[in-house]
Order: sequence, then structure tokens, then C-alpha cells
Amino acid sequence: MIKTLSALLMSISLIQAFELNTQMKKFMDELLIEAKKQNPNLKEFDYSRGEKIFTTEQVGKKGKKISCVTCHTADLSKKGLNENTNKAIEPLSPLANPKRFTDTKEVKKWLKRNFNDVYNREGTAQEQGDVVTYIINKK
Ligand code: HEC
Repeated sequence: MIKTLSALLMSISLIQAFELNTQMKKFMDELLIEAKKQNPNLKEFDYSRGEKIFTTEQVGKKGKKISCVTCHTADLSKKGLNENTNKAIEPLSPLANPKRFTDTKEVKKWLKRNFNDVYNREGTAQEQGDVVTYIINKK
């Protein structure tokens, strides 16, 4: 009975974990190779570093205090609101929104643009990998 129960619980947690598709896995592998070139001590991307990048306020491109949370909210399973255009943004978490992190072109484009909005630069390979690791794993 206990065995069956723990097997059941395990399969539930497996269903909840988010699995990247092939093109996204490749994108993350390439980012890690690039990041290791810039920082040879780097082992892997890190959730906590990513969380800091996502939640820390900066004086952004428009000269106002802004963070990733400003538009995407701190609860990534909820809809966000674009500060600049006042338009709703669908949830960023792939657990809540299965379209997220499926198309590397979209991901690259928005990481670049959004890093520029907040940090006035594109973000290094390590920063991009850390922040994606945070977003896709945050429950
Ligand atoms: C000024 C508002 C704004 C800020 C600030 C912002 N974003 Fe976004 N983000 C958007 C919009 C708008 C989109 C594109 C519309 C959509 O996909 O719903 C988007 C899309 C994305 C996507 C695309 C995901 C996918 O697969 O579709 C990622 C990744 C992302 N943002 C990460 C970030 C990160 C990391 C930060 C902080 C560095 C950030 N965003 C800050 C507005 C913002």
C-alpha cells in the first residue's frame, strides 16, 4: 500500500515538473557553453541567482525604477501587466502557460528586449540562463 502510494506521489511530481522541448534544451546547452567561456568556474545555472535578477529593481531604460516583476508580477502563474503599454501579459510560468519556453526565437527576442528595459544591456549568457532556470522552475 505504502509502495503504491509513494509510486503514485512520484508520478504526480513528475507530471508537474516542466520538461523543455528539444530546441529549448539546445538553447540552454549553448547558453551554458557560452557562459562557461566567460566564467570558467561556472558549473551550472542557478535558481537563486536567477531569482535575484528577476526581482531586483533597477533604474531602467526609461529612467524609472523597474524589475522583471513590474510587468510579470512575482506570481509567475498569474497574468502580468505591461507597464509601458498597459496591456495584459499572459502568465510567464510554463507550468501555468504551456506556450511559454517552447519557441527559442521568442525567448531570445524577449530576453534581449526585457533585459534592456530593466538593465540597459542584453544580459550575459550566465544571467540569461540563470533567469530562465528561475522562471521555468518557480512553483
Ligand atoms: C516593460 C514590461 C516588461 C518587463 C519589465 C519585462 N518583461 Fe518580459 N515580457 C514582456 C512582454 C510584453 C512580453 C511579450 C508578450 C508575451 O509573451 O506575453 C514578455 C515576454 C517575456 C519572455 C518570453 C517567454 C516566452 O517563451 O514566451 C521572457 C522569457 C521574459 N519576458 C522574461 C523577462 C525577464 C527575465 C525580465 C527582466 C529582466 C522581463 N521579462 C521584464 C514585458 C516585460
